[in-house]
Amino acid sequence: MNSISEIELQYCYYVFFAKLNIQRLSFLRPSQSKLQGKRFCVKQIDLLDSKLIRGMLSPDSSDRISKLILLEEVDSTNSLLQKELNAGMGPVLVCAADQQTAGRGRSGKIWHSPLSKNIYLSISWEYALPYNKVDGLSLAVGVVVLDSLISYGYPELKLKWPNDILFGGAKLAGILVEIIGGANSSLKIIVGVGVNVKMSAKQGSVIERSWIDLYSIRHKPPPSRNELLATLVNHLIDLFLSYPEKGFSYWQNSWNARDSFMGKNAQIISNGEILSGISRGVDSKGRFILDSSEGLLFITAGDVSLRES
Ligand code: BTN
Repeated sequence: MNSISEIELQYCYYVFFAKLNIQRLSFLRPSQSKLQGKRFCVKQIDLLDSKLIRGMLSPDSSDRISKLILLEEVDSTNSLLQKELNAGMGPVLVCAADQQTAGRGRSGKIWHSPLSKNIYLSISWEYALPYNKVDGLSLAVGVVVLDSLISYGYPELKLKWPNDILFGGAKLAGILVEIIGGANSSLKIIVGVGVNVKMSAKQGSVIERSWIDLYSIRHKPPPSRNELLATLVNHLIDLFLSYPEKGFSYWQNSWNARDSFMGKNAQIISNGEILSGISRGVDSKGRFILDSSEGLLFITAGDVSLRES
C-alpha cells in the first residue's frame, strides 16, 4: 500500500475538522487537481470531479449543459443557480457541492447538508411554455430520481407524495423544484436534488424526521458520487427534453406503482386543517387523490403535508 502523501493527509485533517463542525477550514483543503488520481491508504475519498462527471454524461447532456459548477461549499446549490439565471446565465446549468451551509427543503424547511458523501445537486432548464404545460413535472422528477437510485440496486425505494424518496418510511432523498418567470416570459426551472449517500449518525442527529442513507440500506460502499451525479443529470435532461410532449399522464402509472401510501389511511395537513381519508395515488395532473367521507378530493402540491394516519 502506498504511504499517505502530504496532500492526502491535509485533506484528511480538513474532513476531520469539518466533521467536528469546525468551520472556515477551506484553506486546508487541497485543490482537486492535486488530489485527482491519488490512492488513499486511510480512506477512499470520493471527491466531486468534473472530468469524471463529464466523461459519464450522455451526448445529449454534454450538448445541452452550458455550465457545470462543482463547489466545496455553497449556501444552497438551488440559490446559486437562481443567482446565475438572474445574471443571464443558462439556460442549462448544473451545480453540485460537497456541503451546503443553507440548504433548502420544501415548505421553507432546512435541508441539512453536512460535508459528507451526500449528493447536493441542482440543474436548471428553460421552457418557452405556459406554466400549465409543465404540471406534474416535479412528481416526474421524483420517478426519475427514484428509478436512477433503483438502478444501483435499491429496489425497495418508494415515493411519498409529492416527491420524497423513502426507504421503509425513512427519508432518503428530497426534491425541491423552483420556477422563475412564467406569465409572459419563458419558464426557468430549477430542480434541486438531495440524496443521503453516507452520513454519520452524529451529522444526521439534527434532522427532525427519520432519515436513512444509501450506505445504511446495504451496508456496503454506495455508488460513486460522480457516477450517481452523472446518472441523475442524464436522466433529468432526458425528462426535461421529453416532458412537454409526454406530460405527466406518461408518468402517472409509474408514480402510482411506487407510491408508499397507496390504499393507506392518510391525512393531508393544509393551513392547520386536517383532511382524512384513504390515499388513492395521483391523477394525470399529479394531484394527490384522497378518498374522504366527502368524496374524492384532488390536492395540488403546495404548502401541504401528507402523513399516515
Ligand atoms: C425536501 O425534501 O424538502 C427537498 C430537499 C431538497 C434538497 C436539495 S439539496 C440540493 C438543492 N439545494 C438546496 O438548497 N436544496 C436542494
